[in-house]
Amino acid sequence: MTQDKIERLRQEISTKVREYYELVHAPKRFVPFESKVPYAGRHFGPEEMQSLMGATLDFWLTLGPYGHRFERALKVYFDARDAILVNSGSSANLLAIATLCCPTLEGHLRPGDEVITPAVTFPTTVAPLVQHQLVPVFVDCELGTYNIDPALVAEAISPRTRAIVVPHTLGNPCDLDALTQLAQRHGLWLMEDCCDALGSTFAGKRVGTFGDLATLSFYPAHHITTGEGGGLIVNRQRFIKIARSIRDWGRDCWCEPGVSNTCGQRFGWQLGDLPLGYDHKYIYSRIGYNLKPTDLQAAIGCAQLAKLDAFIAARRRNFQRLRNGLAPCEEFLIFPQAHPKAEPSWFGFPLTVRAGVRRAELVRWLEEAKIETRMIFAGNLLRQPAFQEITHRVAGSLTQTDRVMQDTFFIGVYPGLTDEMIDFVVERFKQFFKRAASSRPQAAAAV
Ligand SMILES: Cc1ncc(COP(=O)(O)O)c(C=O)c1O
Repeated sequence: MTQDKIERLRQEISTKVREYYELVHAPKRFVPFESKVPYAGRHFGPEEMQSLMGATLDFWLTLGPYGHRFERALKVYFDARDAILVNSGSSANLLAIATLCCPTLEGHLRPGDEVITPAVTFPTTVAPLVQHQLVPVFVDCELGTYNIDPALVAEAISPRTRAIVVPHTLGNPCDLDALTQLAQRHGLWLMEDCCDALGSTFAGKRVGTFGDLATLSFYPAHHITTGEGGGLIVNRQRFIKIARSIRDWGRDCWCEPGVSNTCGQRFGWQLGDLPLGYDHKYIYSRIGYNLKPTDLQAAIGCAQLAKLDAFIAARRRNFQRLRNGLAPCEEFLIFPQAHPKAEPSWFGFPLTVRAGVRRAELVRWLEEAKIETRMIFAGNLLRQPAFQEITHRVAGSLTQTDRVMQDTFFIGVYPGLTDEMIDFVVERFKQFFKRAASSRPQAAAAV
């Protein structure tokens, strides 16, 4: 009887949540110059709110049943050894590097070891290297792909090089043929930062499945969101226990929350200098953190992941519509390029202004029409205040990186954009170049 009542109440609440969604959150009519054209954003329906409400009523709070479901679904999606939820993409990067530095890992990284990474990047892709006293070795990127140049990676390798850490910039896969070959030939760990690239493929295989470890972000701007959130994709068995332990306080015990004695000898261990039989729940064999998200976040993730294929298709469609629409502006803009084997699940649409065009003016023109723009994250990371004094090495020049910092920006392709919005964006670009080129009639005619 009580069970029936519980079910009925849950059903009623779920119906109300749907009603509330339709009233408050359903997409609004687009009004040019008044409505924003966001560069990214949460894209959700009533299902995410209903799933969150289900988890709220369960009131498990800490990572629990929804967490397991989400981790299992991600593991299947990547055909990975494991998928470990964390509370952000930055935490995922931290966990990946902490795992590679863990003294219980054979061949672990040590302070002073070099890690090759691009200088155009996100700050928390590099921060864990600094935090672990590793030496980032910065190399230049390619204009157009905005990814690390593999030829420069090969040149940057020294006897101290132990790992390569690469973001797939704005969802555009790096040359994973070249990078995996280099990693194999030189015995380097490969870590893929896939925070912006969920669903992108290279040679028909998902990015995140090439490296030893890969990371995901579920921050609202990303392909799927849980609010704050992220994940570590584990492609080698030997990392699983270490990474899970470091995420969970560094504990030796691997019981799920609320469970005891999974190992069958909770009071039978003798580790470190602890007395024999010290409770395994309180034995710490690694220096760890608590990086777990909540079950509420995981509940949203489960509903978002079910829509991922549709989200990716929408991102690709929006990208193509922009690309086709902007084609007449090629004289003024360098368009994004992908490796021939890559099929990006685009995070954004990057553009570099050609000589004679000022990025600041173009960006202002777009923003005045409420078209959101963003820079490629930190630009040249070494020019950021926090990174100017870090121990590092630069291999070669960072000419293209500096060009990206000066001349590149990106606009949105996320599934919340409609054809009407994209056509408005295209028109706004064309107007800018028509105005700018009015003193050069032949250029104006092109747009
Ligand atoms: C490439 C890259 N790595 C890491 C992160 C950090 O993710 P989070 O914001 O979830 O900490 C981001 C964030 O956008 C990112 O773009």
